[in-house]
Amino acid sequence: MDKVFVTRKIPEEGLKLLRENCEVKVWEEEVPPKKEVLLEEIKEIQGLLCLLTDPIDAEVLEAAQNLKVISNYAVGYDNIDIEKAKEKGIVVTNTPGVLTEATADLAFALLLAASRSIVAADNYTRAGKWKSWGPKLFLGQEVFGKTIGIIGAGRIGSAMARRAKGFAMELLYYNRSTKPRLERETGAKKVELEQLLQESDFISIHAPLNNQTENMIGPREFRLMKKTAVLVNTARGAIVNQRALLEALENREIFAAGLDVFAEEPINKNDPLLQNPRVVVAPHIGSATFATRDKMAQMAAQDLLAVLEGKKPRNPVS
Ligand code: DGY
Repeated sequence: MDKVFVTRKIPEEGLKLLRENCEVKVWEEEVPPKKEVLLEEIKEIQGLLCLLTDPIDAEVLEAAQNLKVISNYAVGYDNIDIEKAKEKGIVVTNTPGVLTEATADLAFALLLAASRSIVAADNYTRAGKWKSWGPKLFLGQEVFGKTIGIIGAGRIGSAMARRAKGFAMELLYYNRSTKPRLERETGAKKVELEQLLQESDFISIHAPLNNQTENMIGPREFRLMKKTAVLVNTARGAIVNQRALLEALENREIFAAGLDVFAEEPINKNDPLLQNPRVVVAPHIGSATFATRDKMAQMAAQDLLAVLEGKKPRNPVS
């Protein structure tokens, strides 16, 4: 029987499928297995079902002797050395599609929360600081009818665009390829990054993390943004230079930010970004709905099993 290592307790939908077909070992802790655990476990197994918190680098892959498939329980796969996996003939799969709407929902929730200082207002109310209805109490940015710039117009970026359309927003997008369907459905206009940064009231990042996108939003980019701009990032933290973001907020170069992702996760609780009342944060929960996580588990397990059965997986990443 094939051996499979699952690096965290994923929903039962996926585990059940795996257990019916393989010898399964699950890492039951709340935090990811350390590298030495991965190095040990990977030696024997045929299948690895891992999370975005598991760095499957060249050293880990080198230790694999019989590994046929890595199924990543995420759509992003920047945690895996894809080239090395390819070199070793290991198939890598991910979970696209099923998490699109949940992630776009969270992106839009962060957009609204950051624009209207919802979290700061909630804290203020609970702390008993509310003296009276005030003409200038928690003034925020208008959302309806404004311009949104979408960086990365794949599935999630397009789903974000559809939500923005519901708020009668003008849409700009920055993407390698043109997206005729998105343009047809939402009236979105493809522009260069510079124009998007200059003209958008809201900027939402939906690009994968790679060599081209790492630190894509730095000091120069913040200076190009409107002083009233709100930045939302539900993609990967390292796409934004976090120090530059903090400076932009402190220098009032932008109005606010809604962040689900960070360069280092978890972000340190003393990080100055967390002291800024104009920042709304979440602990990387874009895809965290019951239904979505169940579907991700099922999809990840099905693709892992497909490869072990010698079939083509539905979602190979390369
Ligand atoms: C992904 O799938 O890449 C997300 O970041 C997880 O929610």
